Amino acid sequence: MKKLTLIFCLCILQIISFAQENKFDVAIIPEPVSIIRNGGKFTLPKNVVIRSSSSSEVDLVTKFLSNKISRATGFTVKENNTSPKYTIRLILNKDANAVLGNEGYQLSVTPKNVLIRANKPAGLFYGAQSFIQLLPKEIESATVVKNIDWSTACVDVEDYPRFVWRGLMLDVARHFFGKEDVKRYIDDMVRYKFNILHLHLSDDEGWRIEIKGYPKLTEVGAWRVKRTGYFNNMPIPTPEEPRNYGGFYTQEDIKELVAYAKDRFVNILPEIDVPGHSLAAVVSYPELSCTPEANTYNVRSGEQIMDWSKGHPPIALYDNTLCPANEKAYQFLDTVVSQVAKLFPFEYIHMGGDECPKNYWEKDPQIKALMKKENLKTMDDVQTYFTNRVDKIVQSKGKKLIGWNEILQGEGLSKSAAVMNWLGTDGPAKAAKEGRSIVMTPTEYCYLDYMQGDPSVETKIYSTLRLNKTYQFEPVPNGIDPKLILGGQGNLWTEQVYNMRTAEYMTWPRAFAISESLWSPKEKKNWDNFFGKVEKQFERFNIASIKYSPSVYDPIVNTSMGENGQLIVDLATEVKDLDIYYSFDNSFPDQFYPKYTQPLLAPKESFQLKMITYKNGKPIGRMMAITMEDLKSRVKAK
Ligand code: ACM
Repeated sequence: MKKLTLIFCLCILQIISFAQENKFDVAIIPEPVSIIRNGGKFTLPKNVVIRSSSSSEVDLVTKFLSNKISRATGFTVKENNTSPKYTIRLILNKDANAVLGNEGYQLSVTPKNVLIRANKPAGLFYGAQSFIQLLPKEIESATVVKNIDWSTACVDVEDYPRFVWRGLMLDVARHFFGKEDVKRYIDDMVRYKFNILHLHLSDDEGWRIEIKGYPKLTEVGAWRVKRTGYFNNMPIPTPEEPRNYGGFYTQEDIKELVAYAKDRFVNILPEIDVPGHSLAAVVSYPELSCTPEANTYNVRSGEQIMDWSKGHPPIALYDNTLCPANEKAYQFLDTVVSQVAKLFPFEYIHMGGDECPKNYWEKDPQIKALMKKENLKTMDDVQTYFTNRVDKIVQSKGKKLIGWNEILQGEGLSKSAAVMNWLGTDGPAKAAKEGRSIVMTPTEYCYLDYMQGDPSVETKIYSTLRLNKTYQFEPVPNGIDPKLILGGQGNLWTEQVYNMRTAEYMTWPRAFAISESLWSPKEKKNWDNFFGKVEKQFERFNIASIKYSPSVYDPIVNTSMGENGQLIVDLATEVKDLDIYYSFDNSFPDQFYPKYTQPLLAPKESFQLKMITYKNGKPIGRMMAITMEDLKSRVKAK
């Protein structure tokens, strides 16, 4: 009997300890290469000691951990290089571990302490990020949180990235984002092991970087009329309207941003978008254009400047291009690239090349003369001539050129140019045949300016990209040599993004998905597991006051027309375990309303459909309302 009692007690203890261990979330994004959960738990003591090898870059990781831990816990954190009694130890491998490479790490959390090993400080930083994700969500608090059990599961993690290029692009041209905003964006991206911030520094709506010798770029080109509403439908600026909306980075600002990024193991990729998308430069210096009336143009304030009805390339209503037949354009770019090359240590400079209209070039006598002289057959060849001249300039400053797909359209592009692929996953075929390096950012998986859910609750723009589609991003297209794919990035264009809160909303949670596609082994990707982790990250973002989109909880609406002319509405959800309640009577549905179980036949005379989702009896989606007119127009649009 005694024996039985003992066995019974041991079983109970086992169950309790198992339950305790399982109370700790292990929900790291991006998913590590290998993670083993061991028994027991690790608890942060009130006096934390971080031991590390002494190097200025390792100190950055120590400081990161120290600030993060002390800020939320209020505990004392001692940064001690040599203490034999430590809580967290950061070790740089003496003999490089070939598997870990430059950014990999091993993280061992035991009941006693935490050990992070890596070949390079960047690996220690990523190990530290994973450790932070193991701690309770309150670690994200900007102020001390009391009465928290600062414990984690005990784990052994071995982890390294699938790709070296893991980027996010922030378009600071359409709307300007100041230094502090950009720093915040960097802070957020490094949590998920992104290592490249692509800044789109020039476009039709603004020139954002001080260039010495060309002061009008920032006196004129950085400023436009303030407009609020939907881009492309704004009125043309009148001469009286003040051009006081915008801004730019001084060269000192850029140095500060580059240093801030470097301290977080991020490179900044600068983009100067030429020869198209250059209206801000053209308005500042009309002599860079082929078109004499360029001296009457405005920096774009949201008015229509392109006609897209005939497809790509667009027809320009205003010539927003630098003139490939004008030596002044190359002198200008030599100065710009020279200064950009000095400011940004990253090996690449992005020189744009996308969506360049050719209609002004087609009728220009200087372009005709250039074509004759250089034996150029097509307008695409003219653009290639331009790109090759720019490539020579970029190379002369010790850098490599990268550009959008369109730089490949003509014949004879210099061999060293790399391609950033935005046009489809088939886009890189030509680049790959030519052995070029490729960064994948196809619109259908990576465009963070697209709506994340139904247009009735999103800021309207050309297309929709839901989280689950983003998660399907596979950076290596079929038939392409994986060695050519450097990696990929999410691109946040900001025509409809007026502030940093919206930039965050558009970025998250989709950038979680992109981070996992770029870092984690392909075979470790799993949507259900991923979404469970996303929900944990949402809780962290709530505490960190980072905005994210909840669109994934909203219903997916599909419409069709029944044989008798009655509208049929199909509802679905992007994630599991959601119930949809609806009404056709204009009132606000809740969980006592009809629950969606099968396609709905919309009453002919109803005005609108309202819907809301619930999870475990609690509302979770947003109240959505779509008029019958809108629903019917969606059938027609198909
Ligand atoms: C692009 O989206 N125009 C590169």
